[in-house]
Amino acid sequence: MAGKDLIEEAARLIAGAKNLVAFTGAGVSAESGIPTFRDPGGLWDRFDPYELGGGDIFSSIFRGSKIPASATTFVSEMLEVLEKAHPNPGHLALGELERMGILRSVITQNIDNLHREAGNTRVIEVHGNIFRLACLGCGSKIGLSREDLFELGRKLVGLLQKGDLQGLISLASRCWCGGICRLDVVGFGEPVQDMPQAVQEARRSDVFLILGTSGAVYPAAYLPEYAKSAGAKLIEINATGCYFQELVDVGIIGKTGEVFPRIVERVRELLEMD
Ligand code: OAD
Repeated sequence: MAGKDLIEEAARLIAGAKNLVAFTGAGVSAESGIPTFRDPGGLWDRFDPYELGGGDIFSSIFRGSKIPASATTFVSEMLEVLEKAHPNPGHLALGELERMGILRSVITQNIDNLHREAGNTRVIEVHGNIFRLACLGCGSKIGLSREDLFELGRKLVGLLQKGDLQGLISLASRCWCGGICRLDVVGFGEPVQDMPQAVQEARRSDVFLILGTSGAVYPAAYLPEYAKSAGAKLIEINATGCYFQELVDVGIIGKTGEVFPRIVERVRELLEMD
């Protein structure tokens, strides 16, 4: 567990920040029951990222690629965990920091929408958001309600189980322009979303939080470097180690759902004392 002095150091930096920005990864959602990618037993430990990580299942179908057998298990498992997931105390603490007027924005690699559910309104989703469709024709984005996504997901799993390619093609929604829509998530080899805004936020920050990411995937993993070179203080919280050791000013090993609410509580106390 994180020492009191590190919690204090992090809280003091955050309480004094003018432009606090958070950068998050799968670890932040682990305590909501969503598996991470690279921990033991994580998604890329059990599924082949080269087979399943490159774009979503719809675009594979439209490209006429073979759908891997493991896709059904992967899709149904992801939908099951997402349907049960709710913001955990780590997400809620970030929402609280925005309401307190301290947190400027969240840049996330997560597609699970949990930062928005926790009340954050300035969220930059560099790997997309599964609760959204994107038109492959005109680029329009269409929000999906929880009901819409999980109903679509159940149909998708049923068709995958039957190997019904024609059914899968007809399941794809059509945009008003006639274009085909796919889930708005970024796969390996695809361009990330809103990276210029993310870089701008990182460069503007004076305190930059790195929460629950292994920093293995670029270009997102460059963001701490941008923040550091613009003069920000960096705070990292990760359950298994310090992945940005050479950049960070305060590195805390611990779960974000446990450590971060304690830090935010202390920030509140410090601000009340002022
Ligand atoms: P990873 O699975 O690579 O890393 C998650 C990190 O969170 C690990 O370093 C864990 O130690 C840490 N962790 C686990 N539980 C935690 C907890 N409760 N509190 C704090 N930390 C915890 O996930 P990402 O870094 O998000 O991209 O992966 C980046 C990208 O790789 C993903 O967005 C995804 C994936 O392939 C695409 O699909 C394009």
